[in-house]
Amino acid sequence: MGQSFGRAFGTTVEELKNQINIVDVVGRVVPLKRAGANYKGVCPFHSEKTPSFVVSEQKQIFTCFGCGASGDVIEFTKRYYNLDFAEAVEKLAKENGIEISIGGKRNSDKEKYYEINKEAARFFYRAFTEEKNPGYSYMKKRGIDDAILKKFGIGYADDSWDSLYRYFKAKGTDEKVLLELGLISEKNGKYYDKFRNRVIFPIINTSGKVIGFGGRAIGEAMPKYLNSPENIIFQKKNNIYALNISKQDVGREGYGILVEGYMDVISLYQHGVRNVGASLGTALTENQARLLKRYTKKVVLSYDADAAGRNAALRGIDILSGEGIKVKVLHVTDGKDPDEFIKKNGKEAFIKLIDGALPMIDYKLNAAQKGLDLKTEDGKIDYMKKASEILRSLSPVEADIYIKKLAGELKIAEGAIRLEISGNNNTVTATQSRGRQEENKGTNELSNMEATLLKVLMISPSFADRMLEYDGIIQSELGRKILNLMFELYGIKGGFEQYEITDSLDPEESQEFAAAVDSIIVAGNEEQVFDECIKTWKKSEAIKREQELIDRLALADEETGSDSIKELTEELMKVQQEINSFGGRK
Ligand code: UTP
Ligand code: MN
Repeated sequence: MGQSFGRAFGTTVEELKNQINIVDVVGRVVPLKRAGANYKGVCPFHSEKTPSFVVSEQKQIFTCFGCGASGDVIEFTKRYYNLDFAEAVEKLAKENGIEISIGGKRNSDKEKYYEINKEAARFFYRAFTEEKNPGYSYMKKRGIDDAILKKFGIGYADDSWDSLYRYFKAKGTDEKVLLELGLISEKNGKYYDKFRNRVIFPIINTSGKVIGFGGRAIGEAMPKYLNSPENIIFQKKNNIYALNISKQDVGREGYGILVEGYMDVISLYQHGVRNVGASLGTALTENQARLLKRYTKKVVLSYDADAAGRNAALRGIDILSGEGIKVKVLHVTDGKDPDEFIKKNGKEAFIKLIDGALPMIDYKLNAAQKGLDLKTEDGKIDYMKKASEILRSLSPVEADIYIKKLAGELKIAEGAIRLEISGNNNTVTATQSRGRQEENKGTNELSNMEATLLKVLMISPSFADRMLEYDGIIQSELGRKILNLMFELYGIKGGFEQYEITDSLDPEESQEFAAAVDSIIVAGNEEQVFDECIKTWKKSEAIKREQELIDRLALADEETGSDSIKELTEELMKVQQEINSFGGRK
């Protein structure tokens, strides 16, 4: 996207870049030290102790050898300040007193979209408040007070199929925009309302703009929640539901609470727990973490107590701590989600849960114990390996505390744990004994690479789209089965949770899958890890093809004429070039 934009606005953006020095821009927010021709500092995009973030003045780029982040001054500004391309360019231009025309049209476009969403929100609000309607009755049945309904701007979309459409039509609003915003749909040349007979939750960003809607079914209609599609003003990955309302409370309390659902937010809020937001039904993203970081450096995750919620919490820990946020985790002990819990037990009980929330390392250690019997030697050893993996990312002081704790719990010498942590620096070691790619065709074992790729998919299901291109990469029978399940779920609902996969596997299979997924650490580097796997695979495919060609060449003179020898030789040269381009045979 930056690419095509760069081209569209070509010279202007290039000129801007020429007038700015990346060292100044980065240096304003990241302390940099000269290191030869370059500058070095602690990476702002992942948490690290020793600097691996390098800025090249000559090339005007930054690179982090720890997390792989890299790019030019615009990329840096986008990532650091959580902006889109146009916003980053605008910011840089403004700070450097440069006039630039980019973004003008786009911004006024955006304003138009915000305006229409606001109109729609008002329309839904009137339907909710002005006369009797099923939406209001439903929210009353769920115990939400009028004042809270008003505060969150809750509305109702009626079931007439076209009331909203007619409303905008009368105002002369462009259908194209309504379609893009996902307020209406089109079929056979006819337009109809997208949200019908649903309670409407307007999604408002921290600048107070209505960027989208979530619509809850009142009956059993599917899906339970219908959300606005992604468009130029609505990107789920960049927003947190209700932060517009709760950001002051988050600041005041010194921490934020993240929950899964719209209703959890509203219910906690009504009961007086107001420093709360939700990640819009998706796995937490880095951008959401960065957005939160503007208001607090501490987050309590309060996801549902089910398997999905537990997995989401583990992922959330990695994302948030990757941005330097301290995380604690709680799961409600009564009811399936915070809404049910607080309705039943009240505010004080929920505050008690917050006070008892587990610090992220304790939570991860607990999760790592799952399925292991610590009374057995094997169980202890497996746990110690997993625990060491977790402790490896800590500062020496933090690690020391947990090493002592662990040694006491497991009755293992501290020294042994230290050795395990320091001696074993490879994050995938745990699976290296799993047998290599190729050798596991038709088996029930996952190769290291398969486990890694499946883990990437678990964390970011959208990689499914790219996996399709490299279908043959997963060869084991179990791997194929899991991949097909993932594709299926991804096709149906755009994502999946671990339990949805394991539900369809035999017990041994799901154990193998869980063990594989647990032992791989991707930690926010999905893109890089995925690319590495693909590269490794392409290389091993090329090496295989090379051997095939060599074999065929050896037989060629008996088999066919010299034409085919020439062809085969040419092909062999190509393949060998390819292998070299992947960094040679080793
Ligand atoms: P939940 O099903 O846990 O939502 O999904 P909830 O808020 O507890 O819903 P109630 O209490 O049954 O009304 C958590 C969140 O996942 C997203 C929504 O953001 C929801 O709040 N979600 C869920 C969807 O986007 N679509 C769905 O079909 C379901
Ligand atoms: Mn709920």
